[in-house]
Amino acid sequence: MGKQIAIDGPAGAGKSTIAKLLSKKKGFIYVDTGAMYRAIALFILESKVPFDDEGAVEKAIPGADVRLKYIDEKQCVLLNGKDVTDRLRTEEVGNVASKVSAYPSVRSCLTQLQRRTAEENDVVMDGRDIGTVILPNAPLKVFLTASVSVRAKRRFLELTEKGEECDIKKIEADIRERDERDMTRETAPLKQAEDAILLDSSDMSIDEVVSRLLELCGERGL
Ligand code: DC
Repeated sequence: MGKQIAIDGPAGAGKSTIAKLLSKKKGFIYVDTGAMYRAIALFILESKVPFDDEGAVEKAIPGADVRLKYIDEKQCVLLNGKDVTDRLRTEEVGNVASKVSAYPSVRSCLTQLQRRTAEENDVVMDGRDIGTVILPNAPLKVFLTASVSVRAKRRFLELTEKGEECDIKKIEADIRERDERDMTRETAPLKQAEDAILLDSSDMSIDEVVSRLLELCGERGL
């Protein structure tokens, strides 16, 4: 079993930025589990399976082979042998990922891959259910959050920097909708593990959050 750091929280809280920096400092690999759900969403979109139809998605899932590969410490997601990493971070794929991730058939296919990755490596793993379901014994669990308006502003900047046209009001509405769906689904909903440290990054810089996490790592012998 490798060393484990679990970071959960809602969309746009800065999990991936923080987890990436922390993993570099610690020499652990960064496992972005949202990207795995996004790969399944991309598969469902490309296969033209109606994503609101749970039965149809369940039937299609065996046709999706999701794997991770690390090139120069960067996580690449392979979908049926093809590197799809650069196609995963659109709003459309994120929204479909939030929908299909509520289906138990989708979750169980990725749960095994996530646990195996943490058995074979030292990991900083981020997602929604890492501290509660995937790595319940992780010595450091963090629940990273921020206000909806701060998260919408961050997502807006991220998308406009990439040249994508977007509307901040629509992003804010999508975030609210996504939070609601992620928190209220029956299987592995987004929630803070009892033994997780709550960090609200609304008024914290990236460096401040990373420094706090490094302190916590020291305290937990990581
Ligand atoms: O973190 P993200 O925005 O890339 O995640 C996309 C969606 O995937 C998110 O809305 C919910 C789902 N997800 C999940 O259910 N469990 C995880 N461990 C990670 C993501």
